[in-house]
Amino acid sequence: MTELAITSGRSSLAGEEAIVYPSFEGAAEASGLPFELVPYMAKRGEATWFFGRRGERHYLVIGLGRREELTLERVREAAGIAGRALRKPGFRSAAVSLAFGSSEAFGEDEIVSAWTEGWLLGTYEFNEYRSSRTSSPMESLHFLTSEEYGSEIERVRDRVEAVKLARDLVNEPGDRLNPDVFAERIVERFIGTSVKIKVYKGLELAERGMNGLLTVGRGSRYSPALVELVYDPVPGEAPIALVGKGVTFDMGGMNVKTANDISDARMDMGGAAAVVGALDLLVRTKARRNVVALIPIADNVPGPGACLPSEVVAYPNGLTVQVKNTDAEGRLIMADAMLHAAKFDPAELIDVATLTGNVGQALGLGIAGMWGDAGMTARLHKAGEACGDRIWAMPLMDDYEEQLRSDYADLSNWAPTPYGGAILAALFLRRFSGGVPWVHIDMANTSQAKSERSYYPVGASGYGVRLLADYILGN
Ligand code: BES
Ligand code: ZN
Ligand code: ZN
Repeated sequence: MTELAITSGRSSLAGEEAIVYPSFEGAAEASGLPFELVPYMAKRGEATWFFGRRGERHYLVIGLGRREELTLERVREAAGIAGRALRKPGFRSAAVSLAFGSSEAFGEDEIVSAWTEGWLLGTYEFNEYRSSRTSSPMESLHFLTSEEYGSEIERVRDRVEAVKLARDLVNEPGDRLNPDVFAERIVERFIGTSVKIKVYKGLELAERGMNGLLTVGRGSRYSPALVELVYDPVPGEAPIALVGKGVTFDMGGMNVKTANDISDARMDMGGAAAVVGALDLLVRTKARRNVVALIPIADNVPGPGACLPSEVVAYPNGLTVQVKNTDAEGRLIMADAMLHAAKFDPAELIDVATLTGNVGQALGLGIAGMWGDAGMTARLHKAGEACGDRIWAMPLMDDYEEQLRSDYADLSNWAPTPYGGAILAALFLRRFSGGVPWVHIDMANTSQAKSERSYYPVGASGYGVRLLADYILGN
């Protein structure tokens, strides 16, 4: 398949089949279009076609909402909607009029970048298992701008590739992306780069006391693994450690999930994919920051030999954990990887996981939750607002910690309350953060789009890739 050619600059229109006109509310009359626009067409998210007569061009008006409310995220959103609208009739080439951007708070370069990002992410498709594509691909996109932005567009392409990598991994069905395949795909991505790769399995896990992983993975015919990726371009700099939950299928273990459609349980490695995608982007762009990525991988399925509720897991930091519910498996495997992170003397530790349904109860589906170090959460919030991976700081309620007590171990992995589950999970993980400045990110609510919106097609969102990479780069 040929890649979409994206160009920019003053060159006059070639044979583009359609021209896209992003429009602000209240500014319709200034559009320069030979059509009468009505106000609703400029409403945020609206897409209106003016199909040309024979031999004429087609026009697509995209609503941007109010001019004073414009953000780069709104541009990405409009671009995603425009990209999909253009693909439906099967058009192959289009031009985009970006004249609106130049006088705004944003530079034309930023508008071009945001539009490109939204467009490419919004038209992403996962076609691995379809007998035919759902729509025909576009061949060329031209920005009507005052200058050329070739290098900006290339930079965005790197960003998009990293997000696509994460989406591709998360969308894979559970049988295909089993623990063996997941570890192999991560190795494949970084082999031949400067990243040092290690995959711990079996005895190597046992020798290191990674009993959470070994316990959770016991029900599966695929053995669990810890993938360790060390990227250290800066000699002597303490790394940032990233830990990503990699449960390739969360069937709940012996506390088996019983809902009707549980195919989304394949997406329980969204945290791992975010970490892999972020490192992909950092390596691709030769970022000068040291990063250690740790990815605990396991299948949480019932089966002969699977972990039985009541079992006690002993961790190398001396803590023992009673498994009351095998569906609270994420924290059990994250604990192993977080303790392992301490071996690298990291300056900071960030763990990312699709950890609790409860985070969605608290925050809805548009913004992930985070807990931990105040300085780090403030910077993550800022990075998230800028890049579109939104995130909100939540409290570590010390008073709730007693709910994690066990009658015969130091801790329990489950608390007998329907309230505050995401906070309890964060409190659990805090016990394994080793005193390093730490943030826990629960992205169970943002890992996928249930219905098409903005620049998210249905399926994996790629959440966390841009957030983590931008945070690490200090953007
Ligand atoms: N992977 C799930 C959390 C999840 C739920 C992710 C919904 C995405 C969508 C996690 O392992 C889990 O099952 N959590 C339980 C915890 C409970 C047993 C303490 C939950 O959230 O119900
Ligand atoms: Zn679970
Ligand atoms: Zn899970």
